[in-house]
Amino acid sequence: MSRISELLAAMTLEEKIGQLVMVSLGAETIVTGPKAAQEPSVADVRAGRVGSALNLVGRDRIHALQKVAIEESRLKIPLLFGLDVVHGYFTNAPAPLGETAAFRPDLWEKTARLAAEEACDDGIHLTFAPMLDCARDPRWGRIVEGPGEDPTVGRAFARAKVRGFQGDDPASPWSLAATAKHFAAYGAATAGRDYASAEISERTLHEVYLPAFEAAVKTGCLAIMPAFSDIAGRPVTGDRRLLTELVRERWGFEGIYVSDYDAIGELVAHGVAADMAEAAALALKAGMDLDMESRAYPDGLKVALDRGLVSLELIDATVARVLCVKERLGLFDAPFGRGDPNRPAPSTRLDRRAIVREAAIASLTLLSNRDGLLPLASTGGRVAVIGPFAEDTAQMIGPWCGLGDQDEIVTIRQGLTAAFPTRELVFARGCAPDYVEDDADEEKDTALIAEAVALAATAEVIVLVLGEPAELSGEAASRADPTLTGRQAELADRVLALGRPTVILMTCGRPLIETDLLERADATLVAWYPGSEGGHAIADVLAGSRAPAGRLPVSWPIAIGQIPVFFGERPSGRPYVPGEHFTTQYLDIPNAPLFPFGHGLSYTTFEIEPPIVSAATFRAAEGLRLSTRVRNAGERAGSTTVYLFARDVVASTSRPLLELKRFETLELASGETREIVFALGAGDFELLGPDLAPCCEPGRFDLSVGFSADRAGLKTISVELRADPVVA
Ligand code: NOJ
Repeated sequence: MSRISELLAAMTLEEKIGQLVMVSLGAETIVTGPKAAQEPSVADVRAGRVGSALNLVGRDRIHALQKVAIEESRLKIPLLFGLDVVHGYFTNAPAPLGETAAFRPDLWEKTARLAAEEACDDGIHLTFAPMLDCARDPRWGRIVEGPGEDPTVGRAFARAKVRGFQGDDPASPWSLAATAKHFAAYGAATAGRDYASAEISERTLHEVYLPAFEAAVKTGCLAIMPAFSDIAGRPVTGDRRLLTELVRERWGFEGIYVSDYDAIGELVAHGVAADMAEAAALALKAGMDLDMESRAYPDGLKVALDRGLVSLELIDATVARVLCVKERLGLFDAPFGRGDPNRPAPSTRLDRRAIVREAAIASLTLLSNRDGLLPLASTGGRVAVIGPFAEDTAQMIGPWCGLGDQDEIVTIRQGLTAAFPTRELVFARGCAPDYVEDDADEEKDTALIAEAVALAATAEVIVLVLGEPAELSGEAASRADPTLTGRQAELADRVLALGRPTVILMTCGRPLIETDLLERADATLVAWYPGSEGGHAIADVLAGSRAPAGRLPVSWPIAIGQIPVFFGERPSGRPYVPGEHFTTQYLDIPNAPLFPFGHGLSYTTFEIEPPIVSAATFRAAEGLRLSTRVRNAGERAGSTTVYLFARDVVASTSRPLLELKRFETLELASGETREIVFALGAGDFELLGPDLAPCCEPGRFDLSVGFSADRAGLKTISVELRADPVVA
């Protein structure tokens, strides 16, 4: 008999339910639900009433509780410890949306690996990451946590992160189990309001919101967290069709579902369960394994069993899955393996600092650079650095920063001071970063603004450090007006009115819609929340020792009324024609975003040749090779990202104007030309047919390459997919 069957045979009902319970313990980390963090209940662990915990940190505390489970509980089943290790544990990489801007799966994987090493070293087994929610609405604060608007990018991000967190062997003491979250369509919350219902079509669910999760499953992720929210009235936490029939049975998922915080109990508030017993039964039957903090399983599952709503067999099967994941993580054989103080992490602190600096440089996104204002010369007149964030550590690491070591964060001021030893730098905060509530603070801001403008007036160049305070980004941080907070816009307006060369350095977790200011600035560099080495990375780029390499992973709207704006739109029957009234358009703003997906400048310029293909007509099974040549036409080295888009011109269901198929980031020396080859297979020409089953429909495809999703800049070739021969 296997270990798991033996255990199941020996367990009481209370112990079985205990294995499905995950409690929040510890007060140092963010707790995202209704209940306050609590001290570990040793009695519950000893009695087997708890099988997993989240939010407890520190290897000594984790090991102390594990010791109770292993030495004092009847069946000695190890506990599983989870935490939100999203973009770092002590050392932070850029927040995920920023990191996505690097378009570098190799870096995405490396930063996940280093986060895993630090978290495992502290005794953690499981992270609630990667967050894979496609997001097209910057009103939704959680857009910062994921890979942006495109499903192909989401897939690549999913693979890299799962590989990075888990490594090759889940049982290794350096492997952190990954949780793909929040399955699914959480990012489609109505009007960008967190926790709101997603009203999307079945087709959009499958084409846009599910692919990243499928990629995570196929890469072997050990856990999935269903979203709190519902899709068209079906809360995902209770949706058997999605959790079991699609993901387990069709995709072959073999890990566990961890509920989101309180989500099983919230099935009652959703109005699909009358009480905790019904909520527990609905979730268990849907396929949910761990109940994070809702008490629906501990309080409701036995009642559900007594009422005949669930069977003991189903409880057993669920417990077996949880034990199986504990076994795959090596917890039975080495319950103290993660966090062993005698086993040093494979990477050093210096390695980790170097990687996050590299990731930050790669993510910095230069939106504009009039007359080559950037990089700034190392000598010259005074530089005024104006704005509320130049000395702010929290602003560097952003939300969900794990234990983000505050003392180790390089601020913008520190970075610039180190990078410009021979140029005079002066600093002024200008205003509070956030909204102010009383008259005294308002007055203080007025004085700060006046002082900052006066200082800026004495400078040769101005760097305006603006943004969205990190605490206004992330979970429960929806904003109907995603613009600069507090009086920053007024500050910027007055500084720009001085007419001096001015750079806007934007620190943010979403596109901030400030079209007028961005158009007036001579240069805009989006730093996102760049991580522990953010100050150095920003200074490297401003001083020109490195070139910015980020590209927008989301379209940057021109106005709030444009939301959602994304490149994968379907064609209209009345495409926009300038001057033609009855075509799809706004009367007051353009259709196009201010900056398209993929946009980002370097300190050099690149040229791309029209693509060539291995065959103008082909069959799906044969696939196709498309190549193009990219040249660095400028004076400096730099990197660029090439995107390959397809359009299926005529199909049974109208297809998006552009579908991203591949991207590749390459570094080129001045004058260097390189060929890029993309191999396309049958899957690249597939669509979901009228019944949502994948199929290939013969006909013309337009394949386009370019440096962003701006259709005007793409180079296109048409190919013909031939029907497969009919088999008699
Ligand atoms: C709620 C959030 O939605 C989720 O992303 C997170 O993992 C859990 N809380 C645990 O902190």
